[in-house]
Amino acid sequence: MADSLAIAILAAGKGTRMRSKLPKVLHRLSGLTLVENVINSTSLVNPTRKIAIVGYAAEQVKATLSTVPNLEFVEQAEQLGTGHAVQQVIPALEGFKGNLLVLNGDVPLLKPETIEQMMTTHIKNNNAATILTAQMDDPTGYGRVFCDENLIVKEIIEHRDCTAAQRENTRINAGIYCFNWAALMTILPHLKADNDQQEYYLTDVIKDLSPVMAMDAPTSEIAGINNRKQLAEAEAVMQKRLKDELLLSGVTLINPESITIDATVTVEPDVTIEPQTNLRGNSVISAGCHIGPGSLIENSTLGENTKVVHSVVSDSEVASGGRIGPFAHIRGQASVGDNCRIGNFVEVKKSTIGSHTNAAHLSYLGDAELGQKVNVGAGTITVNYDGKNKHKTVIGDRTKTGANSSLVAPITIGEDVTIGAGSVITKDVEPDCLAFARSPQQTIPGWKPKYLRGT
Ligand code: UD1
Ligand code: CA
Repeated sequence: MADSLAIAILAAGKGTRMRSKLPKVLHRLSGLTLVENVINSTSLVNPTRKIAIVGYAAEQVKATLSTVPNLEFVEQAEQLGTGHAVQQVIPALEGFKGNLLVLNGDVPLLKPETIEQMMTTHIKNNNAATILTAQMDDPTGYGRVFCDENLIVKEIIEHRDCTAAQRENTRINAGIYCFNWAALMTILPHLKADNDQQEYYLTDVIKDLSPVMAMDAPTSEIAGINNRKQLAEAEAVMQKRLKDELLLSGVTLINPESITIDATVTVEPDVTIEPQTNLRGNSVISAGCHIGPGSLIENSTLGENTKVVHSVVSDSEVASGGRIGPFAHIRGQASVGDNCRIGNFVEVKKSTIGSHTNAAHLSYLGDAELGQKVNVGAGTITVNYDGKNKHKTVIGDRTKTGANSSLVAPITIGEDVTIGAGSVITKDVEPDCLAFARSPQQTIPGWKPKYLRGT
């Protein structure tokens, strides 16, 4: 038997039960869309062809999946059922010999090992079809699989087409199938829509194929997502899985239930993550970091031994030894050098900060370039926006800005400069200068009101 493998992922449905404008398969689970999770579950089986069947919001689904290597798209213009969806790959697979693995795009918890095992079972037994099944305590809504004690399947009947007695069967269809393509092609083109929904059901091919074998998978892996309640339940399963892996790899999670971590985040060993912390996107948290409590790190890289407390870091980089927060906000491609302190109520946007520089309190550093060992006084503001354009502030090494100073950009302040407190600095400052710009102090004696003088 030819052992080449094609994969078809069913991703054309709207997902009416999600009650969403977003197509169901683009809803996210631990940072990846449902359909990306499904694609990842095929990572161990080496397909020669990978086809996604798209329909509802096809352009949006294609754009989201455009980075998946070697993925082809087939359109199902009208969504007339899962069988109709698979019919759409027939022209694309003209002359194909081998097996077709079909995966519902809304079954995101499958492990690659389970798919691999199913393929092995399929090939070893030379089955016409092998389907993934599970015993569910509450099988409501799933298709029921009728098979004998040797797991040879007779038929699948959708929940809504089952009699009350048939609904007692708790073995459900997970929506993952491996078909011998030649065998499937004898049946697939001839499906009828004679069921409660008047759709072309892929599950209807089963009764006409032989042998069809069921393989039970763990119930935790086969959940299909039809509504947001099921999405939330699947999220809990995925989060537990990801966090258990991290714990065993040497990451400390304090009160793990209160922490969320995307599947796309890298956390090195000997990191401690405190409660109410969320790590998202393609973030990297290097060894020895201590994050939280109460922090959000999104698409950002934190160097070794960085500490972040009650702060937000997004689309940015912090080098090693950083002390961030409490209540700091680093964003917009900011790059903070090693051993910097970005403290209470400091916002850093699209700025480069040299190593050993401190901005400890109440500052805004936007579109700025700071050298090394700069001390940003409390309340220093880079005045970067004139209402139309953003302008740059450059501050040299070892310079100290006074408390409550405003640096009106574009402006360059040299090395070893001291800026007087309360200054509004509008002109460039040469290195090694003191600059201040504020009105001289007036002190007027005898100012206490007359009624307080007791005369
Ligand atoms: C399907 C199975 C059911 C199984 C369950 C497992 C059928 C008829 N039923 O039911 O036996 O227990 O999955 O989760 O197959 N899709 C298309 N085009 C369409 C219709 C659907 O691409 O015309 C896609 C959807 O985007 C989705 C997948 O197919 O990713 C499954 O469709 P859905 O409507 O959720 O099927 P279920 O009713 O859950
Ligand atoms: Ca479903």
